[in-house]
Amino acid sequence: MNLLKVAICGGGRTGHLNAILFKQLADVQVSLLTHNPEVIEQHARQTPMQALLPDGSSLSARLDRVTADARSAVEDADLVIITVPAHVRQQTLQAIAPHLSASKPVYVGAIPGFCGFDWLAEATLPERPNVVIWGMKDVPHTAFELNPGRSIKMGGGKSQLYVATHARESQASRHQLHAILTRLYGPCVTLLEHYLEITLTPGNPIMHSSVIYGLIGPYGQWHRKIFPQRMCWWTECPELGAYFLERMDEESQALCAVISQRLGIDLSSVKSLKQEIVEAYGEQIRDTSSMLSILRTNQAYNDILAPMVPAADNRAGYVIERESRAFNEDVAYGLVLLVEMARRFEIKVPHIEEVLQWSVAYMHGLRDSALDYFPRQWPHTASAAA
Ligand SMILES: NC(=O)c1ccc[n+]([C@@H]2O[C@H](COP(=O)([O-])OP(=O)(O)OC[C@H]3O[C@@H](n4cnc5c(N)ncnc54)[C@H](OP(=O)(O)O)[C@@H]3O)[C@@H](O)[C@H]2O)c1
Repeated sequence: MNLLKVAICGGGRTGHLNAILFKQLADVQVSLLTHNPEVIEQHARQTPMQALLPDGSSLSARLDRVTADARSAVEDADLVIITVPAHVRQQTLQAIAPHLSASKPVYVGAIPGFCGFDWLAEATLPERPNVVIWGMKDVPHTAFELNPGRSIKMGGGKSQLYVATHARESQASRHQLHAILTRLYGPCVTLLEHYLEITLTPGNPIMHSSVIYGLIGPYGQWHRKIFPQRMCWWTECPELGAYFLERMDEESQALCAVISQRLGIDLSSVKSLKQEIVEAYGEQIRDTSSMLSILRTNQAYNDILAPMVPAADNRAGYVIERESRAFNEDVAYGLVLLVEMARRFEIKVPHIEEVLQWSVAYMHGLRDSALDYFPRQWPHTASAAA
């Protein structure tokens, strides 16, 4: 079998886990681009990296290269996987762009591929016809408790992995990508027809923002108050948050239906959030009767803490962290994109807009957002129409 050279960008939880899994396979070379000196140091000391599996067993790996130097991480890569959060992807793509091979196809993708990664990669890697842009709908496994350069815990895995390519990619490139990802992840990889199937799948952007709004927004019981202790995202989800989530889910589905109809593309794979969660977690949810009960009784969601930091000025207690990923990634790159897509199709999404406006005010405004790369003419160009 040909040697497959994989470069993983981002030495966080997702980056560590995927790197270790790939190194279990024959003829796969893995390099890791990271700015974390601890990961680089552990590699230099020849410390093996371990994935701690849910059944108590573990997998061990030694990566081929671990570096903060973009050139040495990606210069000979066949496959590049961006695993940094959506608000950091542009900076990562800009760092690697000059060093990608120009003499062979290079498959550049994001895991997860939400927030319009296809548009970002197209804008950041112009005039690179050998680059094939792709994204995976979700992470293949959850990953948590990172001990940098040493170990990562693997959570539940997805039975199916859905991958989409930028609309510009040829059938031959799509088939080749499918073959590469099947080699890495097994026969569970399915190619989607349109990248919008990823972009419009509801997830963290509406989940996190609605719960925060329900907690500390203008009608929330914790509005302008300090939490005595850290709260769990889902088991302590407020009724108001679940109400807004359900409304935002409906609006997101309505947007998807209109885009599907007006662009003449099949987006039937995009399910409501409620359906996605029930199908993904099945028996782990004790009560599927409402959004609130689904969130509160899903065992897989137990004990996941909301992003909180100690209150300022030595006051006892906690506040929701303004600099958390729930804002910088989910609001600025997820919600902003949904609202802009709705605006271009003249569709009303009042609940999503209400939560977006409040969230942006809480963040003291947007520094950067998905609007920095969302194509200005979309949906009016052939390249952006899928
Ligand atoms: N972990 C999961 O189970 C899970 C589940 C669902 C979705 N996701 C999604 O997967 C993506 C990666 O998540 P993760 O859990 O792997 O993240 P993570 O453990 O926090 O790692 C993210 C990596 O991105 C890089 N980075 C650079 N600037 C950053 C910044 N300002 N803020 C945060 N990270 C920065 C860092 O890499 P270096 O220091 O190595 O340069 C960091 O290690 C996110 O989009 C997340 O929403 C993760």
